[in-house]
Amino acid sequence: MRLENRIAVVTGGGAGIGRAIARAFALEGAKVVVADIDGGAAAESVSSIHADGGASVPVTTDVANPSSVQSLVAATLQHYGAVHILMNNAAIQVNKRIEDTEVEEWNRQMATNIGGVFLCSKYFLPHLRATRGAIINMSSVNGTFVEPMCAGYCATKAAILGFTKAIAIDHGWEGIRANAICPGYIDAGLAEGYFLSQPDPAAARAQAGRLHALRRIGKPEEVARLAVFLASDEASFMTGAAVAVDGGFSSGLPPGN
Ligand SMILES: NC(=O)c1ccc[n+]([C@@H]2O[C@H](COP(=O)([O-])OP(=O)(O)OC[C@H]3O[C@@H](n4cnc5c(N)ncnc54)[C@H](O)[C@@H]3O)[C@@H](O)[C@H]2O)c1
Repeated sequence: MRLENRIAVVTGGGAGIGRAIARAFALEGAKVVVADIDGGAAAESVSSIHADGGASVPVTTDVANPSSVQSLVAATLQHYGAVHILMNNAAIQVNKRIEDTEVEEWNRQMATNIGGVFLCSKYFLPHLRATRGAIINMSSVNGTFVEPMCAGYCATKAAILGFTKAIAIDHGWEGIRANAICPGYIDAGLAEGYFLSQPDPAAARAQAGRLHALRRIGKPEEVARLAVFLASDEASFMTGAAVAVDGGFSSGLPPGN
């Protein structure tokens, strides 16, 4: 088991990619704190981990709220006494043109997607220093390749790439590693929301598959395997990296597009 005796926190662990990562961490032996704004969803993830014989607790958390994140840190230490892996995964996506985006929607997306990565890093860093731990930040192919109708989302995913490098250079000397994951389209909540925002969701889903060299969208478990690798000692000389798991999306447009 590659994460035995490790304590991991997964934000947005109640659904989609975050749930797959929480489950994968637990299957590799980690004790997992599932932090999600949706407490019921977090509890469902924890139940599925328990069903597999793993150790996990749910903590209802809003990553955009400083006191909620401080409570998450306290709950993590209270339950498990330490933290080795911080998986910053929680995000929302506003699928609108810039001029149609409400100021409140913009602010909420910024506060959740990049603000949440800042707050969790800020409050967990003292404890990650103690364990020479690892931070993994969920970016996206949209961190470098922008698509229509999601300007704010793409901006936050680009910001996460810069922030990841900043953690790496500020804290590498303390043994803390920080890396980013850049998935292509994955069959989970945010992609589904994007498809549903299009006039023909089924056509949008099919078209998304064609954008990938492998001619399909990915599965949450395919992202989770990369997260396990980056969290483990197998990635001991990796920091500041942005790693694609995108079926070739970032290589360019395949024939027929
Ligand atoms: N699905 C994709 O195609 C795709 C592609 C690239 C990157 N990503 C990234 O992967 C991550 C997960 O995406 P997903 O599609 O699995 O999303 P999802 O909507 O299925 O799950 C996101 C989870 O985050 C939680 N959440 C939302 N706001 C929160 C907050 N303020 N505090 C705590 N939890 C909060 C939600 O309740 C939900 O359980 C995101 O960072 C997203 O940007 C997704």
